[in-house]
Amino acid sequence: MSGTPSTILIRGGRVLDPGRGLDTVGDVLIRNGRVVAAGPAQTGRADLVIQAAGLVVCPGFVDLHTHLREPGLEHKETIATGTLAAARGGFTTVCAMPNTEPAADTRSVVEFVLRRAAEAGHVRVLPVGAVTKGRAGRELAELGELAEAGAVAFSDDGSPVADAGLMRRALEYASAFGLPVSDHCETPELARGGVMHEGWVATRLGLRGQPAAAEESMVARDLQLAELTGARVHIAHVSTAGAVELIRRAKERGVPVTAEVTPHHLTLTHEAVAWGPDGADGPLRYDTNARVNPPLRSRADVEACVQGLRDGTIDAVATDHAPHALVDKQVEFDLAAPGISNLETALAQVLTLVHAGLLDLPALVERLTAGPVRAWGLDRWVEGLGTLREGAPADVTVFDPDEEWTVDPTAFASKGRNTPLAGVRLRGRVVATVAGGRLVYAAERVGT
Ligand code: DOR
Repeated sequence: MSGTPSTILIRGGRVLDPGRGLDTVGDVLIRNGRVVAAGPAQTGRADLVIQAAGLVVCPGFVDLHTHLREPGLEHKETIATGTLAAARGGFTTVCAMPNTEPAADTRSVVEFVLRRAAEAGHVRVLPVGAVTKGRAGRELAELGELAEAGAVAFSDDGSPVADAGLMRRALEYASAFGLPVSDHCETPELARGGVMHEGWVATRLGLRGQPAAAEESMVARDLQLAELTGARVHIAHVSTAGAVELIRRAKERGVPVTAEVTPHHLTLTHEAVAWGPDGADGPLRYDTNARVNPPLRSRADVEACVQGLRDGTIDAVATDHAPHALVDKQVEFDLAAPGISNLETALAQVLTLVHAGLLDLPALVERLTAGPVRAWGLDRWVEGLGTLREGAPADVTVFDPDEEWTVDPTAFASKGRNTPLAGVRLRGRVVATVAGGRLVYAAERVGT
């Protein structure tokens, strides 16, 4: 990090602000933590000039799904390391998931997260409160108290809210506070014991699978409950073609549903567990770094997720950044903790869709900025969030869509080195990140 210049000029980049339909070559001027202008060429003095010719300049990314692990699991990640990883990945706002220890099911834990973020955070942290006490799925947490303390949504992520009656009540209460419930859709009776996607790769590896129906049955239930209550439901980490189709049809009927998809479910299949991300022939790997919940699915599922993201059925790319310690992953596949450390590879991973001609760049940037903000109504807390409009918080990401690099997890800012992409060559890299007017990350080439 390089001090706090009060005026920053980002010069000559492709300024992409999809929330306002802006796509032009020009400048972004920041003063005292706010955007002054985005688009037209600027003249005049600046404390810091970032040359952005050939680079994309856009609103800082907003992640609806980040596991920061603090309090209680600081050996996996802390608010300091997780938010530094976010800054390196171009994310300037992260929504912190509540599966900490203790869970964020009381006012004091939500307040703790906000206080630690203010002290040690490199980017903005918006806390998500638990739906049920201890995330145990039996009794509702004090949702009103959590909302008052600053929770922007509710979720028991890591676990579903399996009891339909409880989920109904959660939706009703959450909507009284104007907040969405984000559900980890996994019907326990179908998923139990499954450690990867139920399909031919699981059979080949001799591992128990989770069928796509485990996700789809709960997505269908949640859509019915959203229809019943009129409350907003958010489907976390959509991973199956059937789930995408259910959400698409529900949206057509006007059901208040939003959805997110992760970089890995957009780009990797269950074959990565056995043969690595490129599906290279060779010995079976049983790669625990490819173990994640929901599991990596089939090629048809990946294609449906991409289509859902393209046509707006899915509102946002969310990382589900899930850092784990080495000891959580260097064990038999069945025993490994599920999750991928994602913040620092997310952009490059989703850019593969753009490079392959499957998605255009403005649409991708929309799903990383204005899309998530709209999904959860986050501009209620931070006016102008996810845009570069005048007066918006100066959260800006500058990236090179074409820079090639090799993933080296030992160089991550995150404590979680658990990625199936180690050694993989990716194309597209963050060059600078400004959060609240502070330069929180700059690659060497920026020369500050
Ligand atoms: O793979 C996952 N890891 N999926 C989840 O839903 C939870 C997460 C975690 O917290 O590690």
